[in-house]
Amino acid sequence: MLHGDSWAKTYLLIDEESKQAILIDSVFGRHEYDLSVIQARGATLQHAIATHTHADHVTACFDLREKTGCEYVMWKDTVSLGISKFVDEDDVLMLGKTPLKFHFSPGHTNDSMIIEIPGHILTGDFLFNGEGGVGRDDLPSGRPKIHFEALSVLNRFDDEVMVQSGHDPPGTVMRNLGWNRENNPILKMKTYAEYIAWQERQWEILGPVTQIKIAVPANIFAEAPESDVMNKPS
Ligand SMILES: [Fe+2]
Repeated sequence: MLHGDSWAKTYLLIDEESKQAILIDSVFGRHEYDLSVIQARGATLQHAIATHTHADHVTACFDLREKTGCEYVMWKDTVSLGISKFVDEDDVLMLGKTPLKFHFSPGHTNDSMIIEIPGHILTGDFLFNGEGGVGRDDLPSGRPKIHFEALSVLNRFDDEVMVQSGHDPPGTVMRNLGWNRENNPILKMKTYAEYIAWQERQWEILGPVTQIKIAVPANIFAEAPESDVMNKPS
């Protein structure tokens, strides 16, 4: 599901047999819709997972937990309240018979993780598709050098896995990792000098993050912001 103008992607996984559901990177203010889809499918939300602490939008995870009793799941070192289950690389969450695994992938933030399900990697803002490159590293806890070095985590995955990114412009075709190895400018870079030059260009192009002063405290304290600031696109 692509939510509004923020280009933030929410992923909904439903196991048809057990009717269990998992939401990944659900966005506050749009999550009633996410819940209505789950309800219409006759499923129950088990886990609400955030790939990292978002700076551009408020996570819906804490409110989903409050409303449904689901687990709010994030990486083990995340500095936020409201999380009920911390995961690391030894954890496996089951969605029916489908395993979800977690791969530490810091740099965009220091709590970013890739979620692996068979045939797919949900990369958050650690990796986008094609020209999108990767997420910016100039936001709180972002570290370009760490992000560049952490790209080696992708060596764990075959060319065939699909890259399901956390953002990408509307209409972007999701591609597999092999295609990205050929076409994503970041994955073709050999040196950190190239990487940091690309990042600095992005920071200039993208400019300030509209909702950062609302999103970061709301995400850290697991508190809903005032309703009138939530309906503006980021
Ligand atoms: Fe992000």
